Amino acid sequence: MRTVVTGANRGIGLELVRQLARRGDEVEACARNPAEAQALKALAGEKVRLHHLDVADDKSVSALAHALAGAPIDIVFNVAGVYGGPGQSVRQMAEDLLLADVAHTYQVNAIGALRVAVALLPNVRQGAVKKLVHVTSGMGSIDDNTSGGYYAYRMSKAALNMMSRSLAVDLKREGIASYVINPGWVQTDMGGRNAPTRVEDSVEAILREVDRATLADSGEFLDYKGGRLTW
Ligand SMILES: NC(=O)c1ccc[n+]([C@@H]2O[C@H](COP(=O)([O-])OP(=O)(O)OC[C@H]3O[C@@H](n4cnc5c(N)ncnc54)[C@H](OP(=O)(O)O)[C@@H]3O)[C@@H](O)[C@H]2O)c1
Repeated sequence: MRTVVTGANRGIGLELVRQLARRGDEVEACARNPAEAQALKALAGEKVRLHHLDVADDKSVSALAHALAGAPIDIVFNVAGVYGGPGQSVRQMAEDLLLADVAHTYQVNAIGALRVAVALLPNVRQGAVKKLVHVTSGMGSIDDNTSGGYYAYRMSKAALNMMSRSLAVDLKREGIASYVINPGWVQTDMGGRNAPTRVEDSVEAILREVDRATLADSGEFLDYKGGRLTW
């Protein structure tokens, strides 16, 4: 199986590369600065190939598509993401002009994932498994939002969720599935040390759910623990 992982230099993306490679999959591992990604470089070899990729940059995504032209890809994992700065309260928005953070977070988390999915569609069409997997967050659930705030992050992940559903509808006829999956609250730079879930356990669970998901599950909001989250 041949896969693409964005945000592959640390956190959930890096662990995905590690576990995919361990089970024998080929991985096109994408990072903004692969030359400086020591942990990722240690995994590079015949099965793990490194690529430069900034998902917020059209030219960078086009260059990746060019480098992979003609290569069948089974699963694209859209993992790259940003949180959007501390707090993200209404007061901060007004006082500190954090709206620029909101726009950047949207650019990476939502538009970046769409950019990558669309650019690599010709590859996915040629793959056998035909899955687009976007790592979202429970914070992107409108139903689950009872505590407010986190405008940048919540809005970007809700948009990502909508993107995934539209891709699922539009691509079903071609046998291509699109899912969002919540990885849990995970011990990474983003999740912090107090997170309850080890990155190894989150990624193991993500892979179990992605492997289990079929075309009939396309468009769903998957949870790493199994089952579905509400929108
Ligand atoms: N950790 C959690 O508790 C948690 C919970 C829910 C959802 N998630 C989601 O899981 C995904 C991975 O998060 P994580 O916890 O592994 O976070 P992380 O440790 O902060 O890693 C974020 C990754 O995204 C990359 N990235 C950021 N901006 C990028 C861009 N413009 N182009 C390409 N790559 C970019 C980073 O690369 P650089 O090193 O170059 O910045 C890094 O590889 C994110 O989508 C996040 O929203 C995480």
